Amino acid sequence: MEMFHESIMVAEILAAMEPIEGRQIFDGTLGGGGHSEAFLRQGAHVIGCDQDETALRYATQRLEVFGDQFLPVKGNFENIDRILGDLGIDQVEGILFDLGVNSRQLDDASRGFSFRGDGPLDMRMDVSAALSARVVVNEWSEEELIRIFRSYGEEPRARKVAREIVKVRAERPLETTLELADLVARVVPKISAKHPATRVFQAIRIAVNRELEVLETVLEKAVKHLAPNGVLAILTFHSLEDRLVKHFMHRRSNRFIDRPEWPEPRVNPDYCLRLPSRRALEPSAEECSRNSRARSAKLRVAIKV
Ligand SMILES: C[S@@+](CC[C@H](N)C(=O)[O-])C[C@H]1O[C@@H](n2cnc3c(N)ncnc32)[C@H](O)[C@@H]1O
Repeated sequence: MEMFHESIMVAEILAAMEPIEGRQIFDGTLGGGGHSEAFLRQGAHVIGCDQDETALRYATQRLEVFGDQFLPVKGNFENIDRILGDLGIDQVEGILFDLGVNSRQLDDASRGFSFRGDGPLDMRMDVSAALSARVVVNEWSEEELIRIFRSYGEEPRARKVAREIVKVRAERPLETTLELADLVARVVPKISAKHPATRVFQAIRIAVNRELEVLETVLEKAVKHLAPNGVLAILTFHSLEDRLVKHFMHRRSNRFIDRPEWPEPRVNPDYCLRLPSRRALEPSAEECSRNSRARSAKLRVAIKV
């Protein structure tokens, strides 16, 4: 069977989290369970959360050998308060978010994430969620489509793509990933090796799974659930996510803030994090050549003070 998902920057994440015996880690994006397995091997207890039933099932089976050292939970990590609360846990020593989709979701055409194979317009990580790509593409207004193509896809031809979608769907609904990819390719010129529909697909996926909204709400909660000296590690795969995480971490890592109009710097009321590095870590050239998905990865690490 082909690999479920190849975990990214495992060595760097292990070095940052030090998941030794006695520590408890919340892996908010369990996926194929690769990072969790690495934590478990070093002795930590792991709570592995994923909103995708298929990933959860796969990883649960893979990590069965660790017995009660590992606890799988189906859910959205934005509900970390409730997930940990239900387990009677207040704080953990490490939290990992390895954002976005897993490789199996992309490779399985029936999930509708990709234009490499034909599938229904779906893109839900949680297949019980109400909002699918079909709803976004066929029911959202032209203005809403322009907004998501611009802000989540950074698509320069957002207006043209939205207009074409509205024109085509007036005849009959768009049903499949290839129909949508072909439509986009008619109005967006191919200027690089990437398929011209890449940015539009990214935008729809982010909208369907509320990815930026979820990330924005979880950051504050995650810090609250970290024990002192606990580590927050976040792997991002595009600039929108990375910007959000960077601003969050930087804003909370300065003891003092200063403004030109103030006579002297003031204590930062949000100060709660220490950053081992203010810059994001990136995968080695060797990892990028082995795993193309690693090429866009950025790892940001913060320690609770
Ligand atoms: C990049 S993969 C994680 C891969 C994993 N670290 C590994 O080593 O195999 C991201 C996973 O997180 C899940 N996911 C993404 N956003 C989520 C969210 N808000 N709540 C729960 N799971 C989420 C996806 O379903 C996917 O399985």
